Amino acid sequence: ESVSKGNHRHFMSKEIYEQPDTISHTLSNYVNFAERKVQLPQELPFDFAKLSRLTISSCGGSYYAAMIAKYWFEKYARLPVEVDIASEFRYREPPMEKDGLALFVSQSGETADTLAALRYCVSQDQHIASIVNVAESTIARESDVVFPTLCGPEICVASTKATTAQQTVLATLAIAAGKQRGILSDAQEAEMVDALAKLPGAMSKALASEPKIASLDKSLSKAKDVFYLGRGALYPVALEGALKFKEITYIHAEGYAAGELKHGPIALIDEKVPVVVVAPSDALLEKTLSNMHEVAARGGNIILITDEAGAKQAGPDINEIILMPEVHELVQPIVATVPVQLLAYHTAVFMGTDVDQPRNLAKSVTVE
Ligand code: G6P
Repeated sequence: ESVSKGNHRHFMSKEIYEQPDTISHTLSNYVNFAERKVQLPQELPFDFAKLSRLTISSCGGSYYAAMIAKYWFEKYARLPVEVDIASEFRYREPPMEKDGLALFVSQSGETADTLAALRYCVSQDQHIASIVNVAESTIARESDVVFPTLCGPEICVASTKATTAQQTVLATLAIAAGKQRGILSDAQEAEMVDALAKLPGAMSKALASEPKIASLDKSLSKAKDVFYLGRGALYPVALEGALKFKEITYIHAEGYAAGELKHGPIALIDEKVPVVVVAPSDALLEKTLSNMHEVAARGGNIILITDEAGAKQAGPDINEIILMPEVHELVQPIVATVPVQLLAYHTAVFMGTDVDQPRNLAKSVTVE
């Protein structure tokens, strides 16, 4: 293997720490910071203004990046988005309006189900766009337009830097769509580009929560189940956190939309169940905090990921607070991804699992 771990004990830690750089590098390909504008690397073979729907399919962590993007495209571009797991999408044979846009998100560019979903969309006369990390991959080759994530080879099976680079590219595409559709003004675009410019620095600040997160490893390692809660664009971050946690610790973890907890899973909550709440300060914070208090009232052991403003509002019944920097709402999901990566990483290291090569998992799944 030509890529080395450098000073890190695992590739996962190295790749988590590379994120300020990989995001910075990726952004330089998508944003003109001097003009405070999004500038996509490719001419688009379609017009966002003429689309009635965007369809995104992908698998694993790439699917959760796509789920975040649904919130962004709908909010910032008022573009209806359908997002589905590729293995479901491909057999649903969904009806698609001709000349729609189908977008595929894949680190490897080789995932069999994602490729099959792409080929179905070709048969439905869709424009095919992809976000891939491996530029010479099959999915890239079969796309009309490719948006690369420029984060270099990712070795650890559990995806980290590729996921946040995908999120970053998706954010720029949502802004581009918002501009083309006349939803975002120049001033709004400039404000969002400024938020992206600050993103690498914010990722570094999020990494500074590592000692606090590392101190939770022992208690998390004793859990049999861990819940992750979030709302809006932070809901997919909760799903991503649970996925990462179960992949490398082998402890059952489940991501849930904060507002849905009361419709079932709350029955499982007691003092033995850690509940990670991903809730930086935003318009939905109060709602998420109220869900969190419902959990606390049942003895749930709460770990809150929030910013300073959120921590002030949170109240006294929180066991642990992990602070992330206060950032523009657009980039909150990207920044909040860092602490959930570190939670999984430290718990797995404490437990002594094979962090970079977890059992039963493959980096790229090229069979059905
Ligand atoms: C596998 C990997 C995951 C990845 C998923 C999708 O399950 O272990 O880390 O998110 O495939 O892979 P892709 O290459 O399409 O992003």
